[in-house]
Amino acid sequence: MATTGLFISFEGIDGAGKSTHIDALAEAFRMTGRTVTLTREPGGTPLAEKLRAMVLNDAMDPLTESLLIFAGRRDHLVNIITPALARGEVVLCDRFTDATFAYQGGGRGFDLPTLQTLEQWVQGTESGAALIQPELTVWFDLSPEEAARRLAGARLPDKFEAQPVEFFRRVAQGYADRQKSAPRRFARIDASQSREAVWADVRHVFVAKGWLP
Ligand code: TMP
Repeated sequence: MATTGLFISFEGIDGAGKSTHIDALAEAFRMTGRTVTLTREPGGTPLAEKLRAMVLNDAMDPLTESLLIFAGRRDHLVNIITPALARGEVVLCDRFTDATFAYQGGGRGFDLPTLQTLEQWVQGTESGAALIQPELTVWFDLSPEEAARRLAGARLPDKFEAQPVEFFRRVAQGYADRQKSAPRRFARIDASQSREAVWADVRHVFVAKGWLP
């Protein structure tokens, strides 16, 4: 069966609860006979996972942080994402560039034009045509207050998870701004619902696109 690659990213503030739904989607796609590459950012390759550990644990200025994130993204695109798409696989990526605009741009207040330049460099194609972007971005939208309640008492927080609620308000606004700039790419999911209701909404998006039965 001829299949074309499908690149899908998943976004949301920490605590929005995307992980179980990503795993369930991978299983749903496999049931249809598709090969799934399940991956994440920061990370996804041995080099990018090393950079992830630095980004999540070490203090650094926001330009250094953005450069490390985009360096990892380049390695991930070149070695994992682009080859998987060329093989016709479904690539499910837990976070991608929208997270950089939301966390570094929104949360940390870093310069958006600089992030746009890095995005062009890293996601530009040889033909100079469109940037490599997910075909769909599933955005698990949850209020920062509810996310903080869900995260309280969970595992030891990393550098970002330890940020105050005001930081996550700016991150959430960063996601909303990114959605406004590319509304057709985004599917917003109300992540304040029960896990079952969230899954029903997520599944509906994929069925409506004709990607799942
Ligand atoms: P995770 O816990 O969902 O794997 O995400 C790791 C953390 O990294 C999360 O707090 C969001 C943050 N992050 C950024 O700050 N910038 C980025 O570009 C990405 C992909 C993640």
